[in-house]
Amino acid sequence: MSRIRILPEAVANKIAAGEVVERPASVVKELLENALDAGAKTIRIEIESGGKRMIRVIDDGHGMTHDDALLAFERHATSKLKTADDLLSISTLGFRGEALPTIAAVSRLLLETRDAAEAEGTRVEFANGKLLGVKPAGLPAGTTISVADLFYSVPARRQFLKADTTELGHIASLVTHYALANPDKQFVLSTPTQTIIDCPPSEKLADRVYQLFGRQALDELVEIPPIAAPFRSAITEQALDPEEEKATLTISGFTSRPEVQRPNRNGIYIFVNKRLVRDRLILHAIHEAYRNIHPHAIFPATLLFLEMPYDEVDVNVHPAKIEVRFRRSQFVHDATRDAIRQALMSARPIASFAVAAGTAVGEQTQANPSRWTGHSSLAPVTPAPLGVGVPRAVILAMEEIDLGSGVGSDGAFDLSSRPVQFSFRTRLILEWRRPIHPASSSRGSELGRESRWRKWRRTCFASASRPDCRPQAAGPGQLQFYYRRKWSGTLDCGSARGARAGFVRTAP
Ligand SMILES: Nc1ncnc2c1ncn2[C@@H]1O[C@H](COP(=O)(O)OP(=O)(O)OP(=O)(O)O)[C@@H](O)[C@H]1O
Ligand SMILES: [Mg+2]
Repeated sequence: MSRIRILPEAVANKIAAGEVVERPASVVKELLENALDAGAKTIRIEIESGGKRMIRVIDDGHGMTHDDALLAFERHATSKLKTADDLLSISTLGFRGEALPTIAAVSRLLLETRDAAEAEGTRVEFANGKLLGVKPAGLPAGTTISVADLFYSVPARRQFLKADTTELGHIASLVTHYALANPDKQFVLSTPTQTIIDCPPSEKLADRVYQLFGRQALDELVEIPPIAAPFRSAITEQALDPEEEKATLTISGFTSRPEVQRPNRNGIYIFVNKRLVRDRLILHAIHEAYRNIHPHAIFPATLLFLEMPYDEVDVNVHPAKIEVRFRRSQFVHDATRDAIRQALMSARPIASFAVAAGTAVGEQTQANPSRWTGHSSLAPVTPAPLGVGVPRAVILAMEEIDLGSGVGSDGAFDLSSRPVQFSFRTRLILEWRRPIHPASSSRGSELGRESRWRKWRRTCFASASRPDCRPQAAGPGQLQFYYRRKWSGTLDCGSARGARAGFVRTAP
């Protein structure tokens, strides 16, 4: 008897779900992309219990006919591709024809849709991948997909989901990404108790940035004016031939001023033809652009939009469609780096960087104002040495405390732009060297080391839609600390590997 058998479709769909649907935010991503591909102008996303109980995406796109509404749940059924050649130049966000059957395989799904040209709509219901019913229904033009009880049939998977607030944070971040890439569309993200994002259509990207992040964030950014460059195999080469010359790469967006420092890459958003991507090459280009401007392990906030002909980029790399491969990667890398550098050169240095970057770095900065231009001949910034009388702190992985207290009944953070307080606890090891006799340091020195648990409390700003925060008091990525009321110094939170902060909502 043959050992090999073809898996039933339900099993194949569950396997695909492992790759495509990792958490509630992945469902939101697929449904949002479908709505955008359907030409929706307004997209509403309703979330209950961090998306575990309910995710509903309502769009006013072109909707589906009765037949299409059923076909959409067949595997590899798509309206976005016809032939294998189409794969070489994909212009839509979706193309695999997998998302809906995959989501339906691990949830209870209700699709309500009406094609604008039809008088009547269709309601289709699935549970655990099985079709429960199809009914005609009076519906507005467009599509509403409700996904309830995600992973209810896959308890092992459900266990891996994080707290509702964490899952909601992922969803809010995702919607923020898509709202940035589509400023001309309205996005509304809400839970039963609050509206987290509501941004009406805006004409300019700057307006959308303002809607999502507020005035302060906009002031911290410099615009990367749209720069179009004909494709070449490398930036140093001439355009290849007249045919190739027609293909242009357009780079635009915003990037943070040199004095803005982030301890992680969470503020970097990269879009290729309006698709949110995660790309090491572009991250490297951004890093290169800030070389000699930012110290090690400090990152900028960057919104980068790359527009290029669809055949210059392969999006069929990973099932989640978040990775891409560029046909002429070296050129894309170099052009991106140069566009950001150019934008940075137009930004003036701001004196407060000296405080934010710590004393030693600050002194270097003031001595070398031309560092702002990213001049490569200047020495890179080195961290402050173990100075006399100045304790050096080693922060170990931080432990969240108070996470969840003060959080609303729906488990959501208060994401309004009011200051919020967060606190965390970490074992802090202080090391110091100081003269035994302060008056005469030549007599020798004392080397001390102490380890203790400290609780830190900071007031930060959570922006309208981002659950991450921007430390205020000691400069970005910095933490002020005091030791035995004698010494104080600045810790670089950016170097605290695994540092995480739990948000605690304060009374308004
Ligand atoms: N919101 C929507 N409005 C109109 N049509 C839709 C909508 N969502 C899905 N469809 C139709 O259903 C089809 C199947 O959707 P599905 O998301 O499963 O696949 P896809 O978008 O083609 O590819 P991918 O798996 O990469 O997302 C789509 O090709 C589209 O024709
Ligand atoms: Mg899709």
